[in-house]
Amino acid sequence: MKRILVISYSQTGQLHNITQSITAPLEDDKGIELTHLKLESEKSFPFPWPFWTFFDTFPETVALQPAPLKPFTLEPAEFDLVILAYQVWFLSPAMPITAFLQSTQGRLVLKDTPVITVIACRNMWLMAQERVKEMLANAQAKLIDNVVFTDKGSALATFITTPRWMLTGKRDAFLGFPRAGIDDETIAQASRFGRAISQGFKQQANKIDQPLLSGLQAVEVDERLIASEKVGLRSFRVWSKLLRLAGKPGDFPRRCLLFIYILFLVSLILTIVPLSMLLRKLLRPLQKNSLLRQKSYYEAPSGSGKERMKDFMDA
Ligand SMILES: Cc1cc2nc3c(=O)[nH]c(=O)nc-3n(C[C@H](O)[C@H](O)[C@H](O)COP(=O)(O)O)c2cc1C
Repeated sequence: MKRILVISYSQTGQLHNITQSITAPLEDDKGIELTHLKLESEKSFPFPWPFWTFFDTFPETVALQPAPLKPFTLEPAEFDLVILAYQVWFLSPAMPITAFLQSTQGRLVLKDTPVITVIACRNMWLMAQERVKEMLANAQAKLIDNVVFTDKGSALATFITTPRWMLTGKRDAFLGFPRAGIDDETIAQASRFGRAISQGFKQQANKIDQPLLSGLQAVEVDERLIASEKVGLRSFRVWSKLLRLAGKPGDFPRRCLLFIYILFLVSLILTIVPLSMLLRKLLRPLQKNSLLRQKSYYEAPSGSGKERMKDFMDA
């Protein structure tokens, strides 16, 4: 009997639907026992988010200083595989996931265990995954696969539709903008990953230490976003530090600085970001090889290949 632990944190339920789709074929596998752990913070994060709470979560999220989790028990304490499903907050893992990865209990369960990360977010996840990779390495876990689901809307459309969804709870199509989030067909097709995990367990009978999900279009890096993410996280780190120096969440001086930061961020997004994207588009032919190298680095370990799709897609 192989034991799989599925850890997830979702506010809207979207990520839970994705993990459910992935694990459905595993539920039918008599050789596999699934344990689900849905993380909850001690002080729960509201959804939809009040405006200030949303931005006031930024400093500690970026600093990887999460709010503590509600206590949980794990029976058994050892697993053959961990599936870690998370959403991205401010180019970093969502707080409850960071809390789990840093906790003694989390590190214990992850030690010497193969891990598949599953991400569902708007479109910027590269830096968050780098940070998760570091925390997994600290826990001596082995990352064998990464599966990523991003919103198919354009960067401009999702710049409107994702904050609207987060701040009002409304995710429907409006004024020509598409529905926010991951579409139902993509979620249904995620079951191919479960089928591949089930087969992989039969093939790598002893200990899983190779990717199980390559050739299944697990991840596709948009190379146009690589530089923006790197610059973005660098700037986020500086502001996170300044805001934490200004006080604790909710403190008045911190709120004033947060207000200035939001103005700064919006003006940056409306001016510098389009200009730098244009500049980068012009420079792209010169950077082709470097971008291809980076794309393949960020797509590891599962890759963007499609060669096994026909074997694992639902008929
Ligand atoms: C506070 C906050 C910050 C977010 N930051 C990002 C981000 O940096 N990059 C991104 O692609 N999505 C970002 N998102 C969108 C989330 O990754 C995710 O898609 C959304 O919260 C829905 O997740 P859920 O359905 O699992 O609850 C953010 C969402 C929240 C609430």
